[in-house]
Amino acid sequence: MTNEPVLVIGGTGKTGRRVVAGLKERGVAVRVASRSSEQRFDWLDESTWGPALEGVGAVYAVPLEGVAVSRSFTGLARRSGVERIVLLSARGVDVPGYYEDGAAADEEKSEEKNEERAAGEEAGVASHLQGEHAVRDSGLEWTILRPGWFAQNFSEGLFLDALLAGELRLPVADGAATFVDLEDVAAVAVAALTEDGHAGQVYEMSGPRAVNLETAVAEIAGATGRPIRYVPVTVDRFTAELRQEGLSAEDAQLWAAALNPIRRGLEAKVSDGVRRALGRDPRDFAEFVKDAAAAGAWRG
Ligand SMILES: NC(=O)c1ccc[n+]([C@@H]2O[C@H](COP(=O)([O-])OP(=O)(O)OC[C@H]3O[C@@H](n4cnc5c(N)ncnc54)[C@H](OP(=O)(O)O)[C@@H]3O)[C@@H](O)[C@H]2O)c1
Repeated sequence: MTNEPVLVIGGTGKTGRRVVAGLKERGVAVRVASRSSEQRFDWLDESTWGPALEGVGAVYAVPLEGVAVSRSFTGLARRSGVERIVLLSARGVDVPGYYEDGAAADEEKSEEKNEERAAGEEAGVASHLQGEHAVRDSGLEWTILRPGWFAQNFSEGLFLDALLAGELRLPVADGAATFVDLEDVAAVAVAALTEDGHAGQVYEMSGPRAVNLETAVAEIAGATGRPIRYVPVTVDRFTAELRQEGLSAEDAQLWAAALNPIRRGLEAKVSDGVRRALGRDPRDFAEFVKDAAAAGAWRG
């Protein structure tokens, strides 16, 4: 690789921020891009793509939820002289039915299943897969990251406000997940952006241990001394509550669909991407909790 900067699209977000920090630690020049960054970049405004890609050697791409990274983007990247792209995707997008609610086996429920919910299941998966295809066919050196559920959903993401309020209400029953620490996802991204040997790899990533929501919340409660509990709710109640908090119907359905694999036990699987990419085991959920608590994530 040359000394040209790495463009980090979504560089102010949960994974992008950590990728930026990791690249800087290695002395790599970084160009942070997003709608609010100095280098303005908007997936929904093609006129912002060319200036961001100018003079860049490699790209880390965080796609917008439900919107695929397109062939126009990868084509422009190639013509701009980009050599390498690392795409953030998600675990399970290649498995048919992975994000379905599991009601298909039940004839009656299947008939009742409304179109909005089915659209939610489709949207996230379809856009990630389309983006993966665009990247694979781009002629660039590509690496695809497929992480499972992020541990940082508890400390920076969707679950944070509920935890601070003392009650996390999710439609996952006693389902467990091998939550992956974003420090690991970012470390794999940085390796793929800066080292040889990762081109053409799809890294499916998870943490080393499946924890159910009751255990996860208990570990956070233990580390913080806050009284917090997990309350299982139905999918319909979950989406209704998200709507009350101001989320659009589409976003509420996307989140509900994303949680289906946890309820169905699919996210309890351990994936080996961190070990394959970095030659070490992924960080445990307990390490994430300890570090996030020390950083004041749940001080409120
Ligand atoms: N949460 C999970 O457990 C999980 C698991 C697997 C995969 N994923 C995938 O991870 C991705 C989200 O990654 P993340 O958590 O790092 O993101 P994030 O924390 O939600 O941050 C989103 C980033 O994208 C930027 N952004 C938002 N809208 C944009 C637009 N229109 N054009 C350009 N940039 C835009 C934001 O900055 P500005 O606001 O300044 O634009 C921000 O930098 C999603 O594709 C999701 O499917 C999530």
